Amino acid sequence: MCGIVGYIGERDAQGILTSGLRRLEYRGYDSAGIVTIDSSGQTTLLREKGKVSELDKLVLSHENHDKVGIGHTRWATHGEPSEINAHPHQAGDIYLVHNGIIENYKELKAELKDHNFVSETDSEVLAAMIDSLYDKDTSLVDAVTQALKLVIGTYGIAVISSREPEIVVVARSGSPLIIGVNDNETLIASDACALIGHTDKAIYLNDNEVAICKKDGVDLRDMSAQPISSKVETIEIDMQAIQKQGYDHFLLKEISEQPQTLRATLSGRINERAKDVRLDGLNLSTKELKSIEHITIIGCGTAYYAGLLSSYYLEQLVDGLTIDVAAASELRYRSFHLPKNTIALVVSQSGETADTLACLREIKRRDVKTIGIINTVGSTIAREVDGGIYVHAGPEISVASTKAFTSQVAAITMLGIQIAQAKGVGIKETSKYIDELAKLPDEIDNVIKNYKEKIAEIAKKYAKYEHSLYFGRDTLFPVALEGALKLKEISYTQAEGYAAGELKHGPIALVDDNFFEVALLLDNWLFDKGLSALSEVNARGGHVFVITNSTKDIDAEEILRIDTKLDILAPIVINVVQQLFAYYVAVARGNDVDQPRNLAKSVTVE
Ligand code: F6R
Repeated sequence: MCGIVGYIGERDAQGILTSGLRRLEYRGYDSAGIVTIDSSGQTTLLREKGKVSELDKLVLSHENHDKVGIGHTRWATHGEPSEINAHPHQAGDIYLVHNGIIENYKELKAELKDHNFVSETDSEVLAAMIDSLYDKDTSLVDAVTQALKLVIGTYGIAVISSREPEIVVVARSGSPLIIGVNDNETLIASDACALIGHTDKAIYLNDNEVAICKKDGVDLRDMSAQPISSKVETIEIDMQAIQKQGYDHFLLKEISEQPQTLRATLSGRINERAKDVRLDGLNLSTKELKSIEHITIIGCGTAYYAGLLSSYYLEQLVDGLTIDVAAASELRYRSFHLPKNTIALVVSQSGETADTLACLREIKRRDVKTIGIINTVGSTIAREVDGGIYVHAGPEISVASTKAFTSQVAAITMLGIQIAQAKGVGIKETSKYIDELAKLPDEIDNVIKNYKEKIAEIAKKYAKYEHSLYFGRDTLFPVALEGALKLKEISYTQAEGYAAGELKHGPIALVDDNFFEVALLLDNWLFDKGLSALSEVNARGGHVFVITNSTKDIDAEEILRIDTKLDILAPIVINVVQQLFAYYVAVARGNDVDQPRNLAKSVTVE
């Protein structure tokens, strides 16, 4: 949420900052701004409401050759999207960009009587606080650390001063920051994507660390200004992964690349011939795996639904295992109990979601083993869990999460197989899952190649509706929830997900000509039950679109019958159909599918 960039080196800063902001735009796109500084301390501050393309126009008319600067793309928390609320914020000689939330900003603001506040943001308060402590005998880094000691909240910040134009000071607590190191230049970003093409060497800042970035290196300190050593790591993202590669939208690219990204999730981990799963990095011995009695799964949004779907597989795979799945935003404030021999699965694409991170820390405090199911390598959650499975789906640029869901479910299913193996579950049981996981990439490929056009056609028909109701039973219930989430976030229409058996308990009252329904049906032992729910909706004049793997008789307004060899994992394939459906509805409605309104990727604030 929000993006930060910074640069200090020998190249012109403006172009590097704005191209970095374009890469980070998916983190927030309400407004954008940059400030650059020349060697004499002269600054150029440029800010604009809206997307980075608006800022680009302003930069064109204020081009300079400054070699130092910081920039920001905003997702509004305090104060509406506007130029005045856009970062960088200025206070005296200080310019600051900030991600996160300063919770005690009102109290701090009340003390800063000398500063004339122009914005409604908490970030300007932090800039003013630094400025108030920045007297002629104080260095920028000391003023920053002193101010941060007064702050309650979360932050990733980059600060420059017209008095010390040869440095950029950065600090973090709860909001990611990465420092890219290169010959004669240092780059700063809140997300590794902005560094690709400049350097693959980076220092991941930890909480409560502050760094003085210079052209020729980085001086890392703790909050008491004591030097600490830094670890330079390699960023493993290639340029292609963050480009559209000919697709109209990142969303379509990310849906379409699922066969490959899923292969990357499975690669080296399942052995179809030996009917075996081996996950490295769990940091759990076979004895520990065997002793697991309870699994708690946490995540938000799509990651939560991936956890929910996976829980059905885990309980089918391991008899007697108890599982609960919680939305991290809820769990963090509940007085929850974790039984003995619990492990916690922490599911997150970005590895930065604030609520998920807070739950992880609380669970760790209780000495419960935590396993990350994470996509973004080097992210905060990935660094704090006891062990984990990187899902290796590659960068997800489109705000709506798609390929991460598929890989998360596959990763947790593999973990379930490994636990089952450790507990002595027979090969006959586990091999069904292994065989289906192995087939899954090709089955998704088949759906994308052979049904995409038909799905687009059906989507056009339903694009006119403002309301919809998704329903499915058993494993298709979490899939219905995810389908509805995908549609609502990119089409801006109301979409409800329900367990098919719950329709009669309320939601069936919604059925009328203003609604359409998406009924998910699998040709399994619950088929007839699903059919009953469908007939009840049909009987009330429903406009039902059925997605099924069945060839049996079904009565509905529209039916998409997918031909798949899968049984247990067919819901994952059905979800891909839903992803495409949501995409084509949003396109038909003329929406910005990659950067839907009011949203941003990676929710690093509460
Ligand atoms: C939905 C979506 C969000 C995220 C949620 C969790 O398409 O993108 O619901 O799934 O914000 O994000 P991560 O997985 O990064 O923790």
